[in-house]
Amino acid sequence: TPLILANATEAANAVAERIITLLQDKPDAVLGLATGATMEPVYHALIGAHRAGRVSFSRALSFNLDEYVGLHPTHPGSYRSTMNRLLFDHVDIDLSRTHVPDGMASDIERAAADYEQQIAEAGGIDLQLLGIGRNGHIGFNEPGSPLESRTRQVRLHAETLAANRTFFADARVPETAITMGIATILSARSIVVLATGAAKQAAVAEALAGRFDAACPASALSAHGDVTWILDSAAAPGAR
Ligand code: F6R
Repeated sequence: TPLILANATEAANAVAERIITLLQDKPDAVLGLATGATMEPVYHALIGAHRAGRVSFSRALSFNLDEYVGLHPTHPGSYRSTMNRLLFDHVDIDLSRTHVPDGMASDIERAAADYEQQIAEAGGIDLQLLGIGRNGHIGFNEPGSPLESRTRQVRLHAETLAANRTFFADARVPETAITMGIATILSARSIVVLATGAAKQAAVAEALAGRFDAACPASALSAHGDVTWILDSAAAPGAR
């Protein structure tokens, strides 16, 4: 059953507390991180907790879910630069301990296999943070993504391109990305999904409905034994 908080800030704070508790118990935890507007207040809360002396990231490792293909890491729309700006530049983590898939690799297939290998060598992900797309995507696993998918290049759907236009005012949003697959995500030891706002309600309801339906990739999470859904009241099933 999902944890339902009054508003997006409280929901994000609850997610941040999960990460803080993990790092207090296991300072060398491996974190799976996500980008997107939903995560911004989570990273804001983590920076606050770090400044208050409650949490250190110095021994942690991180692996982000996804990255656009063909965007230089310094492009403000790249997920690498977004993560640096929203979190890494403000906490005590060395950038060499943070990983984002390489969207500039000349051989994306090879880069994807390397990413899987790096996660495995780190001992696997302890806690994977996830948002959910309006169409039910997790990472950039769009509807139709197979349950057994691993890190690979994918083509983004039109509604995802439209939703992610923020940093691409003048240019086009890249149409392909490199993303962890559904099986990669399900390999994490624990998963926390954060969804806030009425636009996510339908996707959340579909994901929580029961068994895996490829039309809603997030429904794959029902096969995992340790998933916590943290919602605000607007995203909760049955909210109006
Ligand atoms: C981003 C990611 C995506 C987002 C999803 C929701 O790394 O994995 O699945 O979590 O698109 O994005 P927002 O939070 O912008 O609604």
